[in-house]
Amino acid sequence: MKALVAYYSESGNTEKLAKAIYDGINASEKEIISISEATAMDFDVIFVGFPVQASSVPAKVEEFIRSIPKGKKLAFFVTHGSLRGGQLAISALYYAFSLALELTVLGTFGCRGQVKPGLIDALLKNSEHKAWAMEAQSAAGHPDKSDLEDGKKFAHLMIAKARNM
Ligand SMILES: Cc1cc2nc3c(=O)[nH]c(=O)nc-3n(C[C@H](O)[C@H](O)[C@H](O)COP(=O)(O)O)c2cc1C
Repeated sequence: MKALVAYYSESGNTEKLAKAIYDGINASEKEIISISEATAMDFDVIFVGFPVQASSVPAKVEEFIRSIPKGKKLAFFVTHGSLRGGQLAISALYYAFSLALELTVLGTFGCRGQVKPGLIDALLKNSEHKAWAMEAQSAAGHPDKSDLEDGKKFAHLMIAKARNM
């Protein structure tokens, strides 16, 4: 079993989660790499991680998902400023699924990721970003220890699921 963790991260939140996910993978071979350098070809399971941006998938991540060969198994993980279980993160994952119709999605994991207070203040004045920026005010400190532990468990479960398919 060869597993890849390919992630995109601008301010380090998704990178932290990617490292926890990597730690939780029990596979004979595993690799972690920034999405701009990743190729999915040689791997059995691919974990694709990204920050929710404008309720959707960042363009570089979309490009990577579209490059994954048909039939591969993958799992999505996201960080987002908005509330846990909220519509904004769900919209992004929904879009990610639509890009993966010919792939097998094993599961998804999401947790909150803090946004710098200065940035939130600026975004609250911008109508496109106001909704998530209001919610993001309470994401300070995330991903925290408990988020990272859950990410690790998620990785373990996804590998077990891939083995049983
Ligand atoms: C340009 C931009 C757009 C964002 N859009 C959203 C959004 O629509 N919904 C949301 O919940 N969080 C949004 N966020 C917050 C990020 O998803 C969150 O802070 C994430 O943890 C950042 O991860 P990173 O440090 O790996 O880049 C946005 C952040 C930025 C910078």
